[in-house]
Amino acid sequence: MPTSGPPSRLAVLVSGSGSNLQALLDATAADPGFGGEVVVVGTDREDAGGLARARDAGVATVVQPFTDHAERSDFERALLADLAPFEPDAVVLAGFMRILSSTFLSAWPDRVLNTHPSLLPAFRGAHAVREALDHGVKVTGCTVHLVDEQVDHGPIVAQEPVPVRDDDTVTSLHRRIQTVEHRLLPTCVAALCQGRLHLDGRHVRLTPPG
Ligand code: GAR
Repeated sequence: MPTSGPPSRLAVLVSGSGSNLQALLDATAADPGFGGEVVVVGTDREDAGGLARARDAGVATVVQPFTDHAERSDFERALLADLAPFEPDAVVLAGFMRILSSTFLSAWPDRVLNTHPSLLPAFRGAHAVREALDHGVKVTGCTVHLVDEQVDHGPIVAQEPVPVRDDDTVTSLHRRIQTVEHRLLPTCVAALCQGRLHLDGRHVRLTPPG
């Protein structure tokens, strides 16, 4: 599916409230030079709040419940088929809580971005904020990375720290991390769409705009 130049047609996958999707929709709408637009929003959950955000923005949606499939590969093939008519040339995981294998990822080599609520490689997985809090770290944060076949492992595009407060709960800490994600994720997606993201092994270099 990827074309020869930088990507411009984004599929965004969500499982939850979609606040990062919203940040991306807002960023693409606000900046004529962004270089990409969200052409479809996909989800594994019929009750994902992100669906309403997509519809409000006039963006097409596809719903592929994970539980409809006996095997992960069947789910991934069905999701690929749903997305294909929209011809996305990059994919953004914005709170998508399913692991994706090469069945899906091989359609967009080095063009699947994920945002994760920790400073990777610490606290991979679905409970990163709770685990950081339980561990007693003083600083956590968020990471935007390219997705490979290992969970929360691919080349790191950008990270930002978020200090942990003594009275933090999972909710309060996650909210502050999300505030940072809402800026960091669109910045990284814009860099990808503007051809400013350069990959050398595990190392990502972002060149400045213009
Ligand atoms: C975000 O904080 C994102 O980093 C996290 O889910 C949240 C989704 O929020 N993703 C993961 O934990 C993936 N391992 P949102 O639905 O409001 O964008």
